Amino acid sequence: MGIQLPTSGPAVVAHGKGDLRIEDIPLTTPAPDQAIVEIAYGGICGSDLHYWMHGAAGESILKEPMVLGHEIVGVVVQQAADGSGPGIGTPVAVHPATPAPGVARYPEDRPNLSPGCTYLGSAARYPHTDGAFSRYANLPSRMLRPLPENLDLRTAALVEPASVAWHAVARAGDVKGKTALVIGSGPIGALAVAVLKRAGAARIVAVDMHDKPLEIAKAVGADAVLKGDDAEAIAAVEADVVVESSGSHYGLASAIKGATRGGKVVMVGLLPSGPQPVFISLAITRELELLGSFRFNDEIDEVIGALADGSLLVDPVVTHEFDLAHGLEAFEVAKNSAESGKVLLNFRQ
Ligand SMILES: NC(=O)c1ccc[n+]([C@@H]2O[C@H](COP(=O)([O-])OP(=O)(O)OC[C@H]3O[C@@H](n4cnc5c(N)ncnc54)[C@H](O)[C@@H]3O)[C@@H](O)[C@H]2O)c1
Ligand SMILES: [Zn+2]
Repeated sequence: MGIQLPTSGPAVVAHGKGDLRIEDIPLTTPAPDQAIVEIAYGGICGSDLHYWMHGAAGESILKEPMVLGHEIVGVVVQQAADGSGPGIGTPVAVHPATPAPGVARYPEDRPNLSPGCTYLGSAARYPHTDGAFSRYANLPSRMLRPLPENLDLRTAALVEPASVAWHAVARAGDVKGKTALVIGSGPIGALAVAVLKRAGAARIVAVDMHDKPLEIAKAVGADAVLKGDDAEAIAAVEADVVVESSGSHYGLASAIKGATRGGKVVMVGLLPSGPQPVFISLAITRELELLGSFRFNDEIDEVIGALADGSLLVDPVVTHEFDLAHGLEAFEVAKNSAESGKVLLNFRQ
């Protein structure tokens, strides 16, 4: 039944620090709740780069070879045997999380905080959770989100990082009419600019150390950009809402300085674990609200809707596309944030 699928296909596999390989992996028999998805595009994310460059992403240390990739879209080529999920031929985006209850408490309506949560392409647990930078991937049907007809796969490749940005902006509540500041204009920061714009922020200022990310931020809706970490210029923004998306404590210092009295600072950039020097005194005397932001839940459905109806503009965030044969080159380009925004792998060529 269905099309004859091959028994193996090429994938991007991290073997350890500095050891990234494009190699054939077997296409195993899917579990009853898994569909087989032919992957079309995969976006390279900071965590993929970390596994390649350091053999680890934060606390998640690679103990065995792992297929990378969680920002993926494709087409169902075999429906899950239990009949669940989208049928053959359906283009889909993928929600990479598998929430799992654990011993720690968490709010029921925020499964992104569930302590046992696994994520595609993550070495947080052992055995690791393989990602889906592979021509074919077996994926649980509940992860699959059918794409509306007018949303093409290439644009949809940004659904996962855009959902991260959407969740971050949503943490700040209603931003309509507000002044917003985004510190760090890489893919996540630029997508936060796009989400802020759509949500009606009155003025959006984006900050970065390099020109290229600032160009992208402008293209997706920033009204003004600031290069570098000029504390005075940043403080003058007096933002109601700040999104920290640089992932550096310098950036967090800028975020705190750029927030107006009583303002909100959403921290989506991931800092290394352990103590961080942070310019915190202002946050106390200005009564700032510091809000963490981690991954996302059902925001993915809103993002798909907003991409399909054209209200969320994200295309300028993609700066490069490589076919899988040039996958290693793609990672080299992706690691240089002065030159690239989101780099896509095209699995279909
Ligand atoms: N919380 C989450 O769920 C989540 C999910 C995905 C990514 N992230 C994190 O978000 C952050 C951004 O991701 P990305 O893919 O855009 O990364 P990126 O490295 O491409 O972008 C970071 C940008 O910040 C800029 N920058 C660095 N220091 C700065 C400073 N002091 N002031 C202003 N700009 C500065 C860099 O030039 C770069 O353009 C990373 O820390 C990443 O780990 C968090
Ligand atoms: Zn990602």
